[in-house]
Amino acid sequence: MQRYTVSFKDTGRSAVVDEGTTVLAAAAAAGIEIYSPCGGKGSCGKCLVNIAGEETRACRFHVHSDIEVSVPEHRDVFLTDSQRSVFKTDKSSRLAAAFDIGTTSIAGYLMNGQTGATLAAASALNPQSSHGADLITRIQYALDGHLDDLSSSVWNCMSDLILRMTSDSSKDTSEIDTVAVAGNTAMIHLLLRKDPRPLTVPPYMPLSVKEERSPISGRLPSSEEAELRILPSIAGFVGADTSGCLLSAGFDRIVKPTLLIDIGTNGEMALSDGKRCVVCSAAAGPAFEGARITCGMRGAQGAISHVRSSADGFEFEVIGGGPAKGLCGSGLLDTAAVMLREELIDPSGRMQIDGSPYWFRKDDVDACKLTGDVFITQTDIRQLQLAKGAVRAGIELLCTHMGLVPEDIETVLLAGAFGTYLDPSSACEIGLIPPCLESRIISVGNAAGDGARMCALDLREFERCAGIAASAEFLELASSPRFQETFVESMLF
Ligand code: FES
Repeated sequence: MQRYTVSFKDTGRSAVVDEGTTVLAAAAAAGIEIYSPCGGKGSCGKCLVNIAGEETRACRFHVHSDIEVSVPEHRDVFLTDSQRSVFKTDKSSRLAAAFDIGTTSIAGYLMNGQTGATLAAASALNPQSSHGADLITRIQYALDGHLDDLSSSVWNCMSDLILRMTSDSSKDTSEIDTVAVAGNTAMIHLLLRKDPRPLTVPPYMPLSVKEERSPISGRLPSSEEAELRILPSIAGFVGADTSGCLLSAGFDRIVKPTLLIDIGTNGEMALSDGKRCVVCSAAAGPAFEGARITCGMRGAQGAISHVRSSADGFEFEVIGGGPAKGLCGSGLLDTAAVMLREELIDPSGRMQIDGSPYWFRKDDVDACKLTGDVFITQTDIRQLQLAKGAVRAGIELLCTHMGLVPEDIETVLLAGAFGTYLDPSSACEIGLIPPCLESRIISVGNAAGDGARMCALDLREFERCAGIAASAEFLELASSPRFQETFVESMLF
């Protein structure tokens, strides 16, 4: 079979591939990640690259000659931010590293094991993203015989992050004595090459939820005796990232009703009344990460992150400045809140833009024009309603299960990238979070990453995390008799 070279402009990388290979697959072979939320099925239209001056979908372009491909700059705003940079340490390591493996991105931290201070932080797109934005597509890829590839791609990414962080802080990898890893249950299964099949069928129980300690054994650059600590998961869709959040938020020491919300592809929530902690997971879908939204994109350069209304129309904040290329989750939320206020959508979610200056038709579909090429359609609003309905239903059912009402909650902790960027007033205005809680919302940044750092630096914190996870009670939302009714009610604005 004929083979051709695919070169990726300005990266110094290329791959020699068989004739007929897609550019998306060639990119993966060259170690270049192209955002491909539908996993290369050709349906999302997000994998655009430029070949010979023409924009085309990387997953649909088959190689029949040597070509040069230009991948648009797509600098993601990944979350390594947190409220804290110094953590308690048992001083048992010289350097400690911690990772939070998200479905979309991987955040890494390097700490001084003696002082507990964070020396460097770095993040990268989860390389598994080229096999689908959502967990189910990715798990299916693993079940199709690619489990080892998915696992090694994340170990390689973590190794790259360690090299980057040690170089940034002028440290030597041989001094890393502990590494702790948090992540959702599926990510941990794929990393450890565990069969993810049980996560795809009811009752979605993972093979194991227990915390694990083992030698790193060369899987990451570190000292020869280095120890790997995997944080405990709680259930199939409440993973080690939630355990890390609960540890860093001190859920075992809380005395007043506190709600923690971590919204990503799934929305994980935990509610404690000071005596017991109940957790649940709501299938929010990828809308908050910009997927399945016509002009949606991740929180990356060019994404509209905030929208306000003004006398002259909409006003926008664009990540990195410059022209707007799309809408990320927080921008989508703000857009819905502004449209509600301007009566461009009604409380049922129906767009009412006929005769408004924002109305236009795109491919025979009515749309509301925001700016430049960015617009929003009725289908996008419905996707948002499904996502926010799932999260809000989770909050309501957690409260009911605990014998509380939302007004009883004293503090709402918003974790994760989306939680950091979203505007609490928009979140309450569209009903994602009960409006009575608006003044009690606190953003806590990457709380899962904080929990992983605590576990890497101090074995007692790792054991405490195991205790918190073991005592958390899991509420299966779908089995609640009131779920459907609450979900439908919660979809309304
Ligand atoms: S259209 Fe190419 S990855 Fe979705």
